[in-house]
Amino acid sequence: MWCGRVAVSFLLSGLASAAWINNISNRDLCVNTPLRVRGCGRPHLFEVELPEEPASPWTFKPQCINSTFGSPQLCVFTSHEFANGRGISIITTPSTAAAIQNLTSFTQSGNLTKAGEMAVPPFEVRDLPGRGKGGIANTTLHRGDRLLAATPAILVDMRVNRFLNVMDGIMLETIAVRQLPPQANEMFWELHNQPTTNSVRDRITVNAFAVEVAGWQFSGVVLETSRFNHDCRPNSAYYFDEETLTHYTHASTEINPGTEISLTYISPLAPQQHRQNTLRVSWGFKCTCSQCSMHPKMIKHSDTRIEHINNMTRLLYGWHERWTARLDLTDAAAVAAADTKKPVVKDEQQAKKHEEAQQKAMDEIPVISNVEAIATAETVISLYQQERLVVYSSDAHLIAALANCAEGRRTEAIKHAQLALETGLVHEGLDDELHVDVVKLGVDPTKEPCWLKKGAGSSLSDAGEVAESS
Ligand SMILES: *[C@@H]1O[C@H](CO)[C@@H](O)[C@H](O)[C@H]1NC(C)=O
Ligand SMILES: *[C@@H]1O[C@H](CO)[C@@H](O)[C@H](O)[C@H]1NC(C)=O
Ligand SMILES: *[C@@H]1O[C@H](CO)[C@@H](O)[C@H](O)[C@H]1NC(C)=O
Ligand SMILES: *[C@@H]1O[C@H](CO)[C@@H](O)[C@H](O)[C@H]1NC(C)=O
Ligand SMILES: *[C@@H]1O[C@H](CO)[C@@H](O)[C@H](O)[C@H]1NC(C)=O
Ligand SMILES: *[C@@H]1O[C@H](CO)[C@@H](O)[C@H](O)[C@H]1NC(C)=O
Repeated sequence: MWCGRVAVSFLLSGLASAAWINNISNRDLCVNTPLRVRGCGRPHLFEVELPEEPASPWTFKPQCINSTFGSPQLCVFTSHEFANGRGISIITTPSTAAAIQNLTSFTQSGNLTKAGEMAVPPFEVRDLPGRGKGGIANTTLHRGDRLLAATPAILVDMRVNRFLNVMDGIMLETIAVRQLPPQANEMFWELHNQPTTNSVRDRITVNAFAVEVAGWQFSGVVLETSRFNHDCRPNSAYYFDEETLTHYTHASTEINPGTEISLTYISPLAPQQHRQNTLRVSWGFKCTCSQCSMHPKMIKHSDTRIEHINNMTRLLYGWHERWTARLDLTDAAAVAAADTKKPVVKDEQQAKKHEEAQQKAMDEIPVISNVEAIATAETVISLYQQERLVVYSSDAHLIAALANCAEGRRTEAIKHAQLALETGLVHEGLDDELHVDVVKLGVDPTKEPCWLKKGAGSSLSDAGEVAESS
């Protein structure tokens, strides 16, 4: 369901924190130069013959490595034509590559002209004293203004880390970089580097976003977006659109000319100490943004607000899950179905375990009435405002809109649906189906399936009515 998708697309951090990776010197690895694979020879690397398909988007024969267990096989797929010549290298299995080939981004690549090509970028890239490069706004920006839309140059399937040894993984990554079109290749080498293991892997680790494509987790390197530095209370937000393989960055607040554009590399919904540790371990920097250098009392208050946000959001998801389950709302069911992500682990037993765990977690969430859900959502929204994370309140707005709709409160439902649209399109994007539903809710909730659906006959509705009349 849509409401469950908060805070998913944070940057990859797992790679760098693995101590065993940090302890390997370049000398120990077969692959140590950007442009040549040398050293240990190439014992496991082989090319695979693809069936003769005139429409194949791949520029080179895929180079593959069998995993230590024989399966899965992981290969490098490179397309120079992708997104009007921007190019892309994808490391994944042949079957996932076949699914990716079917995405709009490949079937209609001529339509992706806007990706990465802003006629007039609203910022300049400048050298910042002691902090490398950064993007500085050169015009006034408002919430929702686009800063960048760009396709990734490199996508690395996270199964690489699970199934290949370090050297084999780095070998595929090196081939992926080498095969990029010249401009993308050049930009890759200009990326910030935090030397630990290998010049290719380090750049990928430090600059990658965690994204989901065709049901699997990938690390995606979006060259242009890497120019934006981190702030835990950033002035821009991003999301990844899987269908078009495009990473969007929008202003999330008002930005004045001369201000540095920032985005968050980590979840802002973690306590301050935890955020500091993650930044230090994964990116090697000490957070100096205002939120990290506040008075200790203020940090404590901020941490409490974040804890409240997390606790109350859990209540809201519980309300939403039960409400949609108890009501026979065809449209709501469609909304939920549209957003049910394919399980990332495609193993039946694991999927079952996952489901049971989810049910157990669900059972532990206290039941709240519609009216309590509205009050809780409003408090969460207010806490996000205090925390300067306004666009993150999109889920709370949607739940407030639905709960108000269920209670027959038309104007409140309209207000929250409109705010869900505005914040949601900046913070997480909305898939087309959901977008249509929220737009309708924001026009006339009385015509929507949620209208006055308190959950008839359920203890939920009774609780709601009691709360309302008391
Ligand atoms: C790193 O390697 C050295 C020698 O190879 C070993 O003594 C040390 O314990 C290792 N450190 C970690 C964190 O694995
Ligand atoms: C890789 O694995 C496939 C089966 O998954 C096998 O047919 C093939 O011979 C293997 N290739 C190499 C070079 O080991
Ligand atoms: C890709 O699309 C073609 C034609 O629409 C279809 O036959 C094929 O099964 C699809 N492949 C995957 C992996 O989804
Ligand atoms: C681009 O999209 C339009 C519809 O928005 C479609 O009619 C057209 O065929 C697409 N072009 C390509 C090259 O796929
Ligand atoms: C802002 O900077 C970009 C270069 O990144 C430039 O193309 C654009 O014209 C500048 N805009 C203004 C208003 O100066
Ligand atoms: C959040 O929930 C946890 C676990 O239920 C609880 O221990 C904690 O006190 C709650 N925090 C706040 C601020 O309510």
